[in-house]
Amino acid sequence: MQSRPSTEMTAWMPDAMPSAGGLPPGLKALLVQAGALVLWLMLGAPLLEQVGVALLPLQHALCAGILAAVLGWVWQLPRWWLPINFMFMPALVTMHSLAVTPYWYLGAFTVLLLVYWSVAGTRVPLYLSSRKAWQAVAERLPPSAAVADLGSGLGGLLRFLAQQRPDGRYVGMEIAPLPFLASWLRMRLGSGGYELRWGSLWQADLRPFDVVYAYLSPIPMADLWRKVEHEMRPGTLFISNTFYVPGVEPSEVVQLDDLHRSRLYFYRMESGGNKR
Ligand SMILES: C[S@@+](CC[C@H](N)C(=O)[O-])C[C@H]1O[C@@H](n2cnc3c(N)ncnc32)[C@H](O)[C@@H]1O
Repeated sequence: MQSRPSTEMTAWMPDAMPSAGGLPPGLKALLVQAGALVLWLMLGAPLLEQVGVALLPLQHALCAGILAAVLGWVWQLPRWWLPINFMFMPALVTMHSLAVTPYWYLGAFTVLLLVYWSVAGTRVPLYLSSRKAWQAVAERLPPSAAVADLGSGLGGLLRFLAQQRPDGRYVGMEIAPLPFLASWLRMRLGSGGYELRWGSLWQADLRPFDVVYAYLSPIPMADLWRKVEHEMRPGTLFISNTFYVPGVEPSEVVQLDDLHRSRLYFYRMESGGNKR
């Protein structure tokens, strides 16, 4: 089990590191929807019927939505799930009444699947580093560095580094098909200067890299650190955008003035293991 860092070492930690434990929130949200629907159909709707109140399908859906939001709140789902819980059933009923051709749903589902392909397993969705993050990374690269972006998304960081620091070698690894394809097309149609590999970052060999960058989520950080510690050479640099490594003191923390007030955590690899 991961030990908690001592309090004198936690000044660099933001207060609200999301929890990595328990059921995945998506699964919780699904159970909440199912629970709300069953409760409403078995208890709420029959009760109303007994007192002579007849509701339209959309009104039933709104009642089930309210119930789902309450259940989600009671089960401590992250707050941003609550409007989704509330809107899900009414949106379903409304869309059904519009008689939209099912191909649109299939199309939208396919696009989402290709973008968020791996999220159920990795718990790392696609969101992009800011230009200010790219800039901060570029400024700290050693000369002619070999750099890996683990989960390279649309390839924005790699493209920027290849333009700003053409002395380096840049490699992106991406598992989701559509972001990979988009970044590959950008590379082929643009000026290039970087490489892309389709596959899981867990299969990558980090030994050749001087700098490894990751912008993932809290979930893989402890496991990723074990891989980084095992494979990266002393003196090389591991950079994590937003998500720190639990229990390991970074060598530098850079507060960015971007939209999300992101932080970059820099870990200089030490020969006898890093300070905890
Ligand atoms: C938050 S985005 C960051 C994108 C890009 N690095 C950036 O900073 O703009 C994380 C990306 O990592 C990818 N990813 C998640 N788990 C992965 C894995 N095990 N192997 C490769 N890519 C992964 C996701 O598909 C997503 O595109």
